[in-house]
Amino acid sequence: MKLALACDHGAYELKESIKKHLTEKGLEFTDYGCYSKESVDYPVFAFKAAKAVADQECDLGIICCTTGLGVSMAANKVKGVRAAVCTNEMLAEMTRRHNNANVICMGQNVVSPELANQLVDIFISTEFEGGRHERRVNLLTDIENGKELS
Ligand code: RB5
Repeated sequence: MKLALACDHGAYELKESIKKHLTEKGLEFTDYGCYSKESVDYPVFAFKAAKAVADQECDLGIICCTTGLGVSMAANKVKGVRAAVCTNEMLAEMTRRHNNANVICMGQNVVSPELANQLVDIFISTEFEGGRHERRVNLLTDIENGKELS
């Protein structure tokens, strides 16, 4: 499994802490920036990691900003990406099981580094359930493709 990692300046420390965690676990990742606490625009970095997931260069993405909100909005604009802001263990598990989320978004001012690592572990180890959820996820793709649902 290869992971795509990105953040803005507001979550630089959280991203570095997650990187350390992934390295300790022997997991492969690409760091799409940013690379310091200098102020940057979160859509740029969210886009880089989200595109790597959409292009199947990476299997799953981990993208952080101060709140997790801005990066999730940016990532969800990329076709093929289902990004979810997660703040607890249940959300990290359920968004994989039911939504087949391929990007987890977290906020440095929202989750502790320890919780973020736990959420990452849950997110990357939980499988999509498929079944009725597959139909619903396919409907998300239909919306993405401009189809009007009735
Ligand atoms: C940056 O100040 C902040 O707006 C950003 O990190 C993010 O939380 C946006 O949603």
